[in-house]
Amino acid sequence: MSPSRIVAYRPSTFAWFCIFFLCCSVHGQLDYKFYDDACPNLTRIVRYGVWSAIYNETRMAASILRLHFHDCFVNGCEGSVLLDDSSTIKGEKNAVPNKNSARGFEVIDAIKANVEKACPSTVSCADILALAAREAVYLAGGPYWPVLLGRRDGLTASEDAANTQLPSPFESLANITAKFTDKGLDMKDVVVLSGGHTIGFAQCFTFKPRLFNFDGAGNPDPTLDATLLTSLRGLCPNEASSDSNLAPLDAASVSKFDNSYYKNLVNNSGLLGSDQVLMSDNTTAAMVSYYSKFPFLFSKDFGVSMVKMGNIGVLTGQDGQIRKNCRVVN
Ligand code: HEM
Ligand SMILES: *[C@@H]1O[C@H](CO)[C@@H](O)[C@H](O)[C@H]1NC(C)=O
Ligand SMILES: *[C@@H]1O[C@H](CO)[C@@H](O)[C@H](O)[C@H]1NC(C)=O
Ligand SMILES: *[C@@H]1O[C@H](CO)[C@@H](O)[C@H](O)[C@H]1NC(C)=O
Ligand SMILES: *[C@@H]1O[C@H](CO)[C@@H](O)[C@H](O)[C@H]1NC(C)=O
Ligand SMILES: *[C@@H]1O[C@H](CO)[C@@H](O)[C@H](O)[C@H]1NC(C)=O
Repeated sequence: MSPSRIVAYRPSTFAWFCIFFLCCSVHGQLDYKFYDDACPNLTRIVRYGVWSAIYNETRMAASILRLHFHDCFVNGCEGSVLLDDSSTIKGEKNAVPNKNSARGFEVIDAIKANVEKACPSTVSCADILALAAREAVYLAGGPYWPVLLGRRDGLTASEDAANTQLPSPFESLANITAKFTDKGLDMKDVVVLSGGHTIGFAQCFTFKPRLFNFDGAGNPDPTLDATLLTSLRGLCPNEASSDSNLAPLDAASVSKFDNSYYKNLVNNSGLLGSDQVLMSDNTTAAMVSYYSKFPFLFSKDFGVSMVKMGNIGVLTGQDGQIRKNCRVVN
């Protein structure tokens, strides 16, 4: 074989190898450019929908971010949280963590309708929700990260999984961490993603035991700052009628996506028990302290953890479907 043949032969083998690698290695995985040809205006449409919803109501950024989290932790990121109850599906909207709590469904519906107009039966509800969560965080002043796409929508939902697999604000750090590791996430992701509580609100019943009867003997949570305790007792009097009153998760900057959530924790000013509990363990407390000092590193790590969360249990290829209406399977 002459040298020129070798030179001619090797690049073509290499090229075939590259073609195989590019096409087949991503099979069954997500891809940043998934809709670049089929729906080039997708990001613009989602951004406009999230922007107008936030313009109408600032809190919607938080609600949409939480919806993506609640989607991913139950059956994977496949849009199950968006399904209404039907004769065959007992959906997740009535599960304890979602009932009278999860919100933003109309926003996703409106975006989906616009996406269907531009590119019918092309973009999954699960991908719209993943993109909307990114836009919401970005528009609230937080980081921007490239969202991997190509998720397909699930054919079912699970109220039971929503009840048992979503973390509760009354749980121990060990239990919360176990729920994250069950999804392939780790303790760092617990600390970083909990930073999502830098925006949005919680109802009084989700933290009321901390105010009045934390130990069963009528005392408040000793890890709750005294000034914040007084103000929260004003907002959430010790009677059932206050249960659905709202308190900001991050009183220092209610609707700005920043690192003040961590600054609050350092000062015993976390709202939920599941927030302040991050200070009860030396490893997580060290991470909290670090993010309280280095906002840029929180921004960077939040994007990384959101991409990890967005990969949980995704359906790709021929699995699932592209729903026409996010509330019902086709
Ligand atoms: C670590 C375990 C977590 C627990 C125990 C937890 C619990 C809660 C609770 C109880 C509320 C208030 C709901 C209500 O009162 O109606 C809430 C709100 C919220 N959560 Fe979490 N959460 C956790 C993790 C996360 C994660 C990973 C994210 C996103 C990355 C997130 C984003 C939010 C947002 C943005 C809100 C405010 C929603 C709104 O204002 O509509 N949470 N969370
Ligand atoms: C994308 O949006 C722009 C601006 O609204 C519009 O001019 C263009 O036709 C759209 N492209 C496609 C492929 O829908
Ligand atoms: C605007 O937000 C309010 C709640 O603040 C809500 O009731 C209303 O439906 C929203 N309107 C639109 C057009 O989204
Ligand atoms: C943690 O999980 C265990 C096992 O499911 C449960 O028995 C325990 O009550 C949980 N603890 C808290 C504080 O949630
Ligand atoms: C937390 O406490 C430190 C030291 O006491 C103080 O400088 C800082 O302003 C406090 N931060 C918040 C958010 O209250
Ligand atoms: C955690 O930190 C505290 C206070 O700095 C220290 O007394 C304790 O020994 C540490 N625990 C572990 C398990 O490292």
